[in-house]
Amino acid sequence: MEVKLLGGGVNEVVRVGATVRRPTGSWSPLVHELLRQLRAQGCTATPAVHGVAQDGVTQDGFEILDYLPGGVSGYPATPAAASPEALESAARLLRAYHDSTLGSALLHVTDGWLLPARTPAEVVCHGDFGPHNCVLDGTTAVGIIDFDTAHPGPRLWDVAYAVYRWAPLTAPGNPDGFGTVEEQGRRARVFCDHYGLDPAERAELVDTVATRLHALVAFMRTQAAAGDAAFARHLAAGHDLRYLADIAYLARQRALFFGYLG
Ligand SMILES: Nc1ncnc2c1ncn2[C@@H]1O[C@H](COP(=O)(O)OP(=O)(O)O)[C@@H](O)[C@H]1O
Ligand SMILES: [Mg+2]
Repeated sequence: MEVKLLGGGVNEVVRVGATVRRPTGSWSPLVHELLRQLRAQGCTATPAVHGVAQDGVTQDGFEILDYLPGGVSGYPATPAAASPEALESAARLLRAYHDSTLGSALLHVTDGWLLPARTPAEVVCHGDFGPHNCVLDGTTAVGIIDFDTAHPGPRLWDVAYAVYRWAPLTAPGNPDGFGTVEEQGRRARVFCDHYGLDPAERAELVDTVATRLHALVAFMRTQAAAGDAAFARHLAAGHDLRYLADIAYLARQRALFFGYLG
């Protein structure tokens, strides 16, 4: 039986028993190589690629991946996804994932990813590590899905977006967010503590979130202009303006967030 999975907002993903079927793109061979390397190392938090063809893509252009059992939150975050346990375990999961990409030959691959590779290529960034791409067992983050946006880059680049989503560092008017500014600052620190982010990187975090969100807005607008229907819908719903409002909020609260992170 096929069951449509909702929530991602970009791709139409269908569950077929213990697997999911997702559309693929020019970046998928690299993503499949990444997923294979992770499983070869014994990682169980990421889906295996089913070898329907040599490059893991069906004749009609889909990938077949493991379905990871558990709960995936949309927005606003479910109580489980907003819990302290989810925050802490997500940070540890991101750290474990990053560390498992150290030494991968993929770090030297600069072309062929959906998002541009960045330097220094310390790890393979997930590129979209929010609650919407994490599988929870109760309140514990146990799985990572949706590697379409993976690309080599600095740890901080990925942590910045993850903190933006998990703290979250959203302006009060953003319906995806929650918490007072103090709670957000405290949760940002908890994420960094459980990830093990070093002090020099913490000092760069707030500004890196703003740079990351600017890059996201530019990416959405480029994709929509190139005819991508999902991103055109996001723009029509004002998502780009929401990110820009969050960037302005970060600038207003910079000193306060810095105090929690420094
Ligand atoms: N491998 C998987 N295991 C469990 N659930 C999945 C998996 N892949 C996708 N899903 C579910 O389908 C939804 C959309 O999938 P996702 O790959 O994130 O697509 P999108 O590119 O639209 O974000 C997810 O939010 C999740 O609920
Ligand atoms: Mg997704």
